[in-house]
Amino acid sequence: MTERYDLSVIIPTFNEEENIAAIIDAVNDVCSKSGIQAEILVVDDNSDDRTIPIVQEITGQCENVRLIVRMKDHGLSQSVVDGFRAARSDIFLIIDADFSHPPELIPRFYEAIRDGADIAIGSRYMKGGDIEEWPLKRRILSLGATAFGRILFPEVTDPVSGFFAVRREVVDGAPLAPKGYKILMEVLGKGRWRSFVEIPFVFRDRAEGESKLRLETMLDYIRQCCGILWFAVTHRIGPVWTEWTKVVRFGIVGLSGIFVNMGLLYVLTEVAGIYYLVSAAIAIETSIVNNFVWNDLWTFKSEGKLRLRRRLHRFVSFQAVSMGGLAINMLILYLLVEVGGIYYLIANLAGIFAAFAWNFMINRHFTWKSI
Ligand code: GDD
Ligand code: MN
Repeated sequence: MTERYDLSVIIPTFNEEENIAAIIDAVNDVCSKSGIQAEILVVDDNSDDRTIPIVQEITGQCENVRLIVRMKDHGLSQSVVDGFRAARSDIFLIIDADFSHPPELIPRFYEAIRDGADIAIGSRYMKGGDIEEWPLKRRILSLGATAFGRILFPEVTDPVSGFFAVRREVVDGAPLAPKGYKILMEVLGKGRWRSFVEIPFVFRDRAEGESKLRLETMLDYIRQCCGILWFAVTHRIGPVWTEWTKVVRFGIVGLSGIFVNMGLLYVLTEVAGIYYLVSAAIAIETSIVNNFVWNDLWTFKSEGKLRLRRRLHRFVSFQAVSMGGLAINMLILYLLVEVGGIYYLIANLAGIFAAFAWNFMINRHFTWKSI
């Protein structure tokens, strides 16, 4: 059964009478032109417009089109998961019915998965991606949601995209708890995957009908993020867990560095009688070395790569990033105190936080990028 189709295109719908026939047509067209045997699954939440009869007529003519009408547990994510369950091929692709997602890109998603990626994500927020004709309010909401999602998945530029493809094994048996609009987050958080690619695309606002995004969706979204974090913490597996152990370890190492720094400053100044600015310089450098060693051995575990030259390379990079962090810390401290009139110890906390974020992000992506 599974060998009949190369790809299952899942189209969730709710009242899409203006678009559904055209999108089915477009998907069929693109796939047959690129030689992809695709089945199309329309998963409808019992629309009260003409969506159902229109699709029924099409299923009578095209044997690769199926319609699932859901009667309970209304929702976009739930519909997508039902689509996963009903799909007959090994690669699933989700696309909106309203032409917000360009069907011409379907072959690229398909090829990305066939070439080895577990997930292929259509991204609006990477180079080449964009959003057309969105009102400012929606842009801000979406950017906020995306930023929030990136806390969980720092590598993914658009973790709330509705346009993505996924390999069957990733979602088969995964404890997905779909709610709201952001099914991709759920797949990223709970699915079994190792690699992903992102494909830039330009999101076009629906030409026909209206968006069904409501305010409750925002609340659902926050609840969903908490659920994913909880899953990561309780199961201790998955990409969110792996990433967050790094953040926590990096933080612990940073704390140890503060102790080294303060202790040495005190000992060198009070016991050895060295001028305090000189002891401070020695203390700072020693704490940088301390942090590097622990991060290299523990946070980013690079035991396999013991080659001295490479380690030295990483050290130089870490040193440079740390100096940048120091500058950021000082700058924020100075600005908050002098311009903002904030108490200097509180201001310094903000400085430390910003420097920490900087140090982690830059080191994660440059110093230890291959780990
Ligand atoms: N089955 C089902 N049930 N389908 C639904 C439901 C539902 O409750 N709500 C919406 N859909 C379908 C629509 O018919 C459409 O095909 C698709 O899901 C997207 O719905 P829109 O209402 O057009 O969504 P949007 O344009 O506001 O949101 C888009 O952007 C989000 C990211 O900001 C979608 O692409 C989302 O998938 C995406 O997460
Ligand atoms: Mn839309």
